[in-house]
Amino acid sequence: MIKVLLNGCLGAMGLVISELVEKINDIEIVAGIDRKCKEADFNPKYTYAVYESPSDVKEEADVCIDFSSALAVDGILDYCTKKKLPLVLCTTGLSNEQLENVKKSSETIAILRSANMSIGVNLLLKLAAQATKALEDKGFDIEIVEKHHSRKLDAPSGTALALADAVNEAAESPYDYIFSRSERREKRPATEIGISSVRGGSIVGEHDVIFAGEDEVITLSHSAYSRSIFAKGAVEAAKFLYNKKAGVYSMFDVL
Ligand SMILES: NC(=O)c1ccc[n+]([C@@H]2O[C@H](COP(=O)([O-])OP(=O)(O)OC[C@H]3O[C@@H](n4cnc5c(N)ncnc54)[C@H](O)[C@@H]3O)[C@@H](O)[C@H]2O)c1
Repeated sequence: MIKVLLNGCLGAMGLVISELVEKINDIEIVAGIDRKCKEADFNPKYTYAVYESPSDVKEEADVCIDFSSALAVDGILDYCTKKKLPLVLCTTGLSNEQLENVKKSSETIAILRSANMSIGVNLLLKLAAQATKALEDKGFDIEIVEKHHSRKLDAPSGTALALADAVNEAAESPYDYIFSRSERREKRPATEIGISSVRGGSIVGEHDVIFAGEDEVITLSHSAYSRSIFAKGAVEAAKFLYNKKAGVYSMFDVL
């Protein structure tokens, strides 16, 4: 039985993972962490102990899954590194300094970081790279549009940035990322990728990578209809990381 510590357990994703793990035999959540931990006292869905911060946790775990907030990531990274606990890091919106710290910690523990844990988006990353190789010298402009629910804190989404990075890694010469064009009056240069964010309602997550050429447009598109696709990926990633040696892993390793 693989024992999981769940950071951000009272959030939207925390709840979906808690419900999913209940139905799986070889993995269990032994404890959770959430700054709103008191709410767990009144919620029968939480059958495990929930603590306010990593330093309060008493249970021993085999792997940690994090779906919290960028503000909580330093604390959980520190805890996992000290405890030699593999970490599935799903929180998005990390700063460059935090990404550096993730790299440093991966010298001590196994870390799987992915802006999107779903199988479909990980395929979309590969397709975007493939389309870039085929189209970059054929006069196609590249734009990325992402849509998410109104509660999302970071913009653009981590997945939109990962898609732009996948394009750039495949391209012969790198593109610049543009997040707003409202301050300028000029034609779009061919060397940029525009990344636009829509926020509203309960949209789980939509990503379009648009290759716009003369008289034809190719759109690679992914829509998430439920959070369970991320939860399933995170659970698979936790099983994969169990007993893995230190290093940085991605969903491509799991799939
Ligand atoms: N990688 C992926 O596939 C994927 C998929 C969905 C969401 N996400 C990311 O996961 C994160 C969480 O998403 P969500 O929709 O569950 O958000 P949410 O706001 O519903 O939940 C976040 C939870 O973290 C808790 N939290 C915040 N700060 C904390 C702290 N300092 N210590 C402990 N707990 C803290 C909050 O109380 C909340 O319960 C976001 O960054 C989101 O972008 C990633």
